Amino acid sequence: MRPELGQATHAVRTGQHQFVDDQHSEALALTSSYTFDDAFDAAEKFAQRRPGNVYVRFTNPTVRAFEERIASMEGARDAVATGSGMGAYIAVSLALLEQGDHVLLAEGVFGTTTTLYRGYMRKFGVSTTVVDVRDNEAWSAAVRPTTKMILVESPTNPLMRVADIGFLSRLAREHDLFLVVDNTLCTPVFQLPHTMGADLVIHSAGKYIDGQGRCGGGVVTGDEDLIAEVRGVLRTVGPSLSPFNAWIFLKGLETLPIRMRAHDERAAEIYAWLSQRDDLDAVHFTGSPDHPQVELVARQQTGHGGLVSFEIAGGRREAWTFVDNLRLVSNTTNIGDTKSMITHPGTTTHGRLPDEAKLAAGIKPNLVRLSVGLEDPADLLADLHQALAKSQIRKLAG
Ligand SMILES: Cc1ncc(COP(=O)(O)O)c(C=O)c1O
Repeated sequence: MRPELGQATHAVRTGQHQFVDDQHSEALALTSSYTFDDAFDAAEKFAQRRPGNVYVRFTNPTVRAFEERIASMEGARDAVATGSGMGAYIAVSLALLEQGDHVLLAEGVFGTTTTLYRGYMRKFGVSTTVVDVRDNEAWSAAVRPTTKMILVESPTNPLMRVADIGFLSRLAREHDLFLVVDNTLCTPVFQLPHTMGADLVIHSAGKYIDGQGRCGGGVVTGDEDLIAEVRGVLRTVGPSLSPFNAWIFLKGLETLPIRMRAHDERAAEIYAWLSQRDDLDAVHFTGSPDHPQVELVARQQTGHGGLVSFEIAGGRREAWTFVDNLRLVSNTTNIGDTKSMITHPGTTTHGRLPDEAKLAAGIKPNLVRLSVGLEDPADLLADLHQALAKSQIRKLAG
């Protein structure tokens, strides 16, 4: 890797290996196994005494190219790709945690992440305390002698609350904990958690990294030693990334810097329009000048991406009426696509959380999440306008 290169150059050039004659665009190595020079070569590679590919569950040249590229963009020394974002979480957890350990988890993270730690990890003797992501005193107070890991999304999805990553990294150092930051929403284009002290950075790669809603996948970046431990889990447990998906992500990274700026510009325009409306109770966007953590946002992020969530006057009925009447914006639960998408988190992404946990995390029945795509903003505004009008007619009709 060449740290002197700029991020947009890494996005296009890093991880380019010539394994097909004279190829210019990165090749897709669709192979699950690799031939060995002789029996000794196979034994040495299996024992990891000699570098080289062994089997697709551990390595593949296209997957490796994606890992190198995203690691360089995150400013990390290494990366390991996984079959999904949740695959990244389970691989990190199996690598770093053991029975009796305690995890501090930010409140309001993606619902399935909460289900993983409060549900499945508990079955294996790992306990979790959920902490308000914005409250540094609460983070300090929640540390126990058995705490091993702090896990945050920043900003959180969908409420756009922000963790003080520098503070959490100091707390982690003080107590010898691992700090893991989910950077799916900002991507390395707008936020570099490793530079603020994060040990590991996680992505759901099917979001902005893909950018066109085609494939699922995940990735973890960090120092070689920690990444080797996570890769060891993949070798044994198996949530590895398919080479085809890795190729899509590798090519997706090439346009990530320009796409993120385009999402950001459109989201700012939509936010400005939404914030003037009187049929919304609240609008959440890290680019808002009224964001309650505006100074922290400015310190940590150089942009905001495409996520804006808002609370529609009324309740679940008005939110659903709004969703059902959108004509251009798709009703789907993904984020980071070129196509704008609407989600009702309370009954989808966060639907499995108990009602108290939803309310504590601010997932109200009238909350909707908009992932602003790359359509003409005027067309999006017209669609939002007509669907909001219908939801308010429904409200008046009682
Ligand atoms: C911020 C964030 N992290 C992790 C995940 C999980 O990733 P995946 O769906 O790829 O398993 C999601 C999914 O929506 C997400 O939004």
